[in-house]
Amino acid sequence: MANVRVTCSGCGAVVAADARLAFRCPNAAEDDGIDHVLVRRLGGPEVAFPEPAAALADQNPFIRYQRLLLGYHVARRHGLTDADFCGLVEDLDAAVARVDGHGFRITPFAPKPALAAAIGMPAGAEVWVKDETANVSGSHKARHLMGVMIYLKVLERAGLPVAEGLRARRLAIASCGNAALAAAVIARAAEWPLDVFIPTDAEAPVVDRLKDLGAICHVMERQAGQPGDPCYHGFRRAVAEGSLPFGVQGNEVGLAIEGGHTLGWEMADILRDAGTALDLLVIQVGGGALGSACYQGLKEAQALGALSHLPAIFTVQTMGAYPLKQAFTRFAGEANPEDLAGSLRHAARNRADFMKPWPATPHSVAHGILDDETYDWLALVEAMAATDGDARIVGEPRLIEANRIGREATEIAVSHTGSAGLAGLIDLAAAGLPEGVRAAVLFTGAERN
Ligand SMILES: Cc1ncc(COP(=O)(O)O)c(C=O)c1O
Repeated sequence: MANVRVTCSGCGAVVAADARLAFRCPNAAEDDGIDHVLVRRLGGPEVAFPEPAAALADQNPFIRYQRLLLGYHVARRHGLTDADFCGLVEDLDAAVARVDGHGFRITPFAPKPALAAAIGMPAGAEVWVKDETANVSGSHKARHLMGVMIYLKVLERAGLPVAEGLRARRLAIASCGNAALAAAVIARAAEWPLDVFIPTDAEAPVVDRLKDLGAICHVMERQAGQPGDPCYHGFRRAVAEGSLPFGVQGNEVGLAIEGGHTLGWEMADILRDAGTALDLLVIQVGGGALGSACYQGLKEAQALGALSHLPAIFTVQTMGAYPLKQAFTRFAGEANPEDLAGSLRHAARNRADFMKPWPATPHSVAHGILDDETYDWLALVEAMAATDGDARIVGEPRLIEANRIGREATEIAVSHTGSAGLAGLIDLAAAGLPEGVRAAVLFTGAERN
């Protein structure tokens, strides 16, 4: 039997994921200073990285990497067979395909020599691009929520007490971008009602698509004297009244990060096939789920022998808002290099000393990464500190240039948010990278015009 554990990386609380939802730490309180994020850890011989296989592009990642999924191990522990689990995933994936035109398949990850040349990489260097623009709902976000939905479906199918009354609870998310679209596709596929809390200036085409998908949109006005994001307040109220959180922020839905690990596993799988590894990976960061998931997915692939070494992780935020960069600078200023784990434990118990919400309303062409807090900051601080990476910030001209070059050199219709990691890589190349370096970026979302 696999050793499946869900623990809070802040306070250490242990959650039995088959008796209680692996979403929010039971000890999460507004102001206890602790960074409560539930993290799932798997161990034991049943947890394995799949053997090399041909035609990866035809495979569903939630089936190929099933032995790395919490939902799979909960299913097996409670009497479902391998075939039951695969059938459940296939049925859900087929429903996703009916809603969105196609289901989940391993997305392309390949070197782009024209891009490497166009951004002035040194001789012999490679730039690999993970292309998420044609993934379900047009970005990587649906991966996070597919993972959550598979887990919910397993709880239902296994008939566990925690699943009693689950269906009567609506799903809720605060977002007006890719996360909301992803949530709406997955919720529709699962025939589960969804409330989306959106701001007054949400883009009309996105709102129209959300409504087409059957989501109920709640436009949240800013109330005089109420600090913080009104959409987040609406979302929290709904959750307090019984809705299930269905967003991609690790502090609210810890398990949402796991679905994103598929990105790291896919990259490792394809690199193994190519007989190579990366020296650096540059990731754009908003709430931090994407970066945290990539890092943890790669780390698991390495631990299971599928990857020789981890790349240095570089994060990218805009000049408009860079709370992660500030947190990392504070952390680096006081961390003990001899005891990274101890320094991380200290940071987890003193969140407010490191992660401070951005005080102003930021603007950028890369509007998907303007979160005023990096919710999954600690995993990213660890990623950068442990791999000798760094937190970068880029200005608007660089973001615009990266998008133009990225589109021209790869013919991928990526959005500015989706190519923001490339802006960071262009900066790194301009500052000087060694010959033959192997770098990667993720084109995480399609331009929607
Ligand atoms: C296309 C795209 N890329 C990257 C991100 C950043 O992901 P995260 O918020 O998990 O850091 C977002 C977030 O909305 C996004 O929409």
